[in-house]
Amino acid sequence: MILSKFVDELPIPPVLKPYRKHPYHTYYKVHMTEFKQSLHSELNDTTVWGYEGRYPGPTIEVESGEKVFVKWINNLPAKHLLPVDYTVHGAHLDVPEVRTVVHVHGASVEPESDGYPEAWFTKGFKKVGPYYTKKVYRYDNCMRSCTLWYHDHTLGITRLNIYAGLAGFYLVRDQQERLLNLPCGSYEIPLMIQDKSFNKDGSLYYPRQPEKPVPELKTSIVPEFIGDTILVNGKVWPYLKVEPRKYRFRLLNASNTRFYRLKLDSGQLLYQIGTDGGLMEYPIGVKEIMLAPAERADVIIDFTNLEGKNIIMTNDAPASFPTGDPADKNTGTVMQFRVTLPLSNIDTSVIPSYMGPLPKIKEKSASKIRYLTLNDNMDKYGREFMLLDNKQWDAPITENPKLGSTEIWYLINLTTDTHPIHVHLIDFQILDRRAFDVERFKKERVIHYTGPSIPPEPQERGLKDTVRANPNQVTRIIMKFGPYTGLYVWHCHILEHEDHEMMRPFVVIR
Ligand code: C2O
Ligand code: CU
Ligand code: CU
Repeated sequence: MILSKFVDELPIPPVLKPYRKHPYHTYYKVHMTEFKQSLHSELNDTTVWGYEGRYPGPTIEVESGEKVFVKWINNLPAKHLLPVDYTVHGAHLDVPEVRTVVHVHGASVEPESDGYPEAWFTKGFKKVGPYYTKKVYRYDNCMRSCTLWYHDHTLGITRLNIYAGLAGFYLVRDQQERLLNLPCGSYEIPLMIQDKSFNKDGSLYYPRQPEKPVPELKTSIVPEFIGDTILVNGKVWPYLKVEPRKYRFRLLNASNTRFYRLKLDSGQLLYQIGTDGGLMEYPIGVKEIMLAPAERADVIIDFTNLEGKNIIMTNDAPASFPTGDPADKNTGTVMQFRVTLPLSNIDTSVIPSYMGPLPKIKEKSASKIRYLTLNDNMDKYGREFMLLDNKQWDAPITENPKLGSTEIWYLINLTTDTHPIHVHLIDFQILDRRAFDVERFKKERVIHYTGPSIPPEPQERGLKDTVRANPNQVTRIIMKFGPYTGLYVWHCHILEHEDHEMMRPFVVIR
């Protein structure tokens, strides 16, 4: 069933209202519930999960330095909306089927409030996971202005909880950003891009078995999920009416597995001003933007003098990435901009020529280098699965950076997929990528480079929390650990990989 394109208007999630606001802190309550929502006008309403009764959840907007408390409340039914695989770590039959825990992706947060995958809780906090510590999470928001997002992070079912709808934007603002005179108000719009598939009755489709089914299991995790329909802010192929002026868009790939290479069919440039961790030093005009799952790009699109034009945002990234099927007419289409609104005011916003300093972390400042492989392996059901440093989730902790120390991580990809590797707590910088001899590495455990060091793409020259580690390459990232100590995680953000052992704890020690 192919749905018509550009028949529904793009929804813009409302900004969440605080439950209480004090001079020194703000308190929110956020409920997770199951409800029906129209994802396309030709489709029956779809049962989804969401925060505060909507999918995507309301946007949480905070000021840099603001102390924010959030009580995340699970009011979901006891039965999962999607097929749970009870053989996956953390989702065995000894735990309740529906569990949640919330992580603000990209935020620097004390460990008790970071949404540790085993800190889950059920409805009414009746049952909680072994690492659960408290009901109300605390966010100190010590980051600069940036585009973050909150989403579920429960061990073993993150892919299902996020696919069901548990995701929303979390924007941090600051004075530096305000002084730049960027497009704002109704001219600043977050765009959460996801792929899904639907059953005829409008319900969400998520496979029960991989292409090569596991006969002894009723439900088995799949190695990747590739949907045939693209949604933005929870609508299938929406359109947005715009004025002939500049707009700022916060692009987020919140898909399970799919990568996007986004372009405008008008051929015009996108002016990227920010990465995962906030504003870059200089804006860059680019024809295309690559976004792996969880990556963000802050862009300005200028519709000036384009009155009457329809502009389509397209995608030409293969799925899976980089060796999967090319995008088709459907998955190659994201949304449409219609320049049909009259200009309501003179556009005085700007694309700044310089946003602010962003000092490079010096390689010399690193006190520790870690060599970490990305591997594939076979589990006891004969399913291929991916590992970090050849270790499963519950192997003893090996990454234990010291508070305040700088480390360089070599991500040595021995698989044929690109993995978006995400590290909690900190932002890193990408040093370089470099081709190496995989077969030789597997035999001798030494890196033999076969090509020159490739600097990060212009789109990646800012603070990052998620990096594409390509096959046959060593990707090097550098980061300083702090300001908190304690237990965090790093993982692949392909959710099917994350749920199936491609996640590891790490601990920041004193
Ligand atoms: Cu977007 Cu560990 O998360
Ligand atoms: Cu994160
Ligand atoms: Cu992966």
